[in-house]
Amino acid sequence: MTKGIIISGGFGTRLRPLTCTIPKPLIPIVNKPVIERQIDLLRSAGVKDITLAVSVMADVLKNYFHDGKDFGVKIQYTSERTPMGTAGAIKLAEDHLKDENFFMLNGDVILNFDFKQMLKSHESYKGMGSIASKIVEDPSRYGVLIVDNESGKINNFLEKNEYHPPGGKYVPMPINAGVYLLEPDIFNYIQPGKKVSIEREIFPKLAEEGNLYNFPISGIWKDIGKPEELLEGNIQLMLDILKDVNNQQKNIIDESLDIDGKALIYPPIAIGENVVIGKNCEIGPNVIIGDNVFIDDNTIIKETLIYNKAYISKDVKIEKGIISDNCLIGNGVELKGNNQNLVILASYVEVSEQVRLIAPSNGSITICHHEVVREDIGTY
Ligand code: GTP
Repeated sequence: MTKGIIISGGFGTRLRPLTCTIPKPLIPIVNKPVIERQIDLLRSAGVKDITLAVSVMADVLKNYFHDGKDFGVKIQYTSERTPMGTAGAIKLAEDHLKDENFFMLNGDVILNFDFKQMLKSHESYKGMGSIASKIVEDPSRYGVLIVDNESGKINNFLEKNEYHPPGGKYVPMPINAGVYLLEPDIFNYIQPGKKVSIEREIFPKLAEEGNLYNFPISGIWKDIGKPEELLEGNIQLMLDILKDVNNQQKNIIDESLDIDGKALIYPPIAIGENVVIGKNCEIGPNVIIGDNVFIDDNTIIKETLIYNKAYISKDVKIEKGIISDNCLIGNGVELKGNNQNLVILASYVEVSEQVRLIAPSNGSITICHHEVVREDIGTY
């Protein structure tokens, strides 16, 4: 049986300060950790044996998934004292993965496609590896695949900044979607005990040998490298779930919601368990609220992610924010981002009454975990 390995040990520096307290693979996407959504997809394709290659905040991941029983799969772990790179990480699981082909996933991508189809495609090509690719308008930020469409072969694999388009103008191209199907022979290419990148050091070699194939995917795909991508990815996935033909709803709301009759909901929104919304609140569009969140009267929230156990007082305005778990927002607070710039509060942040955090036009406002914000930040 095909197994799976998800690399989930990076630092997640671009998502700091959120990732100072929550490892990136456990960051919620529409109220479920990004990596748990990947495990669901693997399980539906019949993959029941999954290795998590962990390093940074390893214990937090282990405490969440344990042996995988609650998630319908068997989970084991490989552990790196310091991150060994994307290939170095899987090398540690060689003994466990040496008998059959296996899926390898970057633990920070939101996607939704049939992994069984990828397995079929890979087995028909008989290459050493298949890479799921997604065509994007602006490929400049990703690893780019130069594909021979007739044979499906990847002729060249170019990491970020290695692809220079003819005439300097980027056009839509297939990019590396961070999901691979690999034959165990790949381990012969990875030197043990060294930090090795599969994208920079192994895939270009396999492409040169004609041993790497393309599997184009359609549907949602988004990596959650940066905060604005995290907000966008949540909204895209929420829309994707809502557009499911079997789903007649405009919102994804848990039945435990306690909402005052005078509050207004503007779809689409998603709300987790045990949420209270007070009088005259206006929530949405594009708001995702986790579990055990209290929102007091007259509060307006748009285009924002709120994780678990936040307490949001009266007369608060939030737009383009990411509010991590256990935050406390005082009466009359205003948090406002603009375009790509957000207001980001890490876990356990407290914002005092009447304080305004207004993101400037050239960057986000980020507040580290456990800080108390007592004065305005930003411009008007
Ligand atoms: P940044 O520091 O913001 O670049 O994030 P990151 O550390 O997560 O790096 P990147 O986005 O390149 O990682 C893609 C995926 O690979 C993520 O799921 C990471 O957890 C994982 N990853 C990256 N490097 C390593 C590593 O050295 N070891 C392991 N086990 N996983 C890794």
